[in-house]
Amino acid sequence: MKIFIDSADIGEIREAAAMGAIDGVTTNPSLLAKAKVSMSQALASICEIVDGPISAEVLATTTDQMVAEGRKLAAVHKNVVVKIPLIVDGLKAVRVLTSEGINTNVTLCFSSNQALLAAKAGASFVSPFVGRLDDLGEDGMALIEKILSIYGNYTLNTEVLVASVRHPVHVMQSALLGAHACTIPLKVIQQLAHHPMTDKGLARFLEDAKSIPQ
Ligand code: E4P
Repeated sequence: MKIFIDSADIGEIREAAAMGAIDGVTTNPSLLAKAKVSMSQALASICEIVDGPISAEVLATTTDQMVAEGRKLAAVHKNVVVKIPLIVDGLKAVRVLTSEGINTNVTLCFSSNQALLAAKAGASFVSPFVGRLDDLGEDGMALIEKILSIYGNYTLNTEVLVASVRHPVHVMQSALLGAHACTIPLKVIQQLAHHPMTDKGLARFLEDAKSIPQ
């Protein structure tokens, strides 16, 4: 499973990259605002740190303007993946950008029918938001299972990129289901590495090491 970091914070991205944990990066307008960084500044820095898919989201909401914005984003670096919201105009923009060889990540996906249309439009990735569904008391991972089952029935080239990840169980379940990728906040990436028994075991080794004859 590909692991992307869900962040526009360069320090966070450097930390995750140093762990050898990430294959790419996803950003969105909220993450850019939180990191207090412009899209151009973020992309320039991120593309130097991570050699993999870098998702950058358009702000336009009409097909022509999404296509124009997407072309500009794609021109920044070969690794840029244009993030497009899953609306009708977005699907039309994905079809155009795909025909021009531009990779796309269809975001804000909340149903399997939406995911099917994203694949039909030729999206490189589709991003179902599992955490936001869980927040509503729905089962976000059940959506991932449905999408993977539907995609598996046909030869669809779109990769399922699990998004809106809230905790390590989302990551484990994504891997168990065979999701192609999962985009994860740094805090959760760090939680993946941690287990209290590891810490306890290491402390015991170091304590016992003091008794090793020199
Ligand atoms: C992908 O990059 C999504 O925009 C992101 O995972 C959304 O996460 P959130 O639901 O915590 O905002």
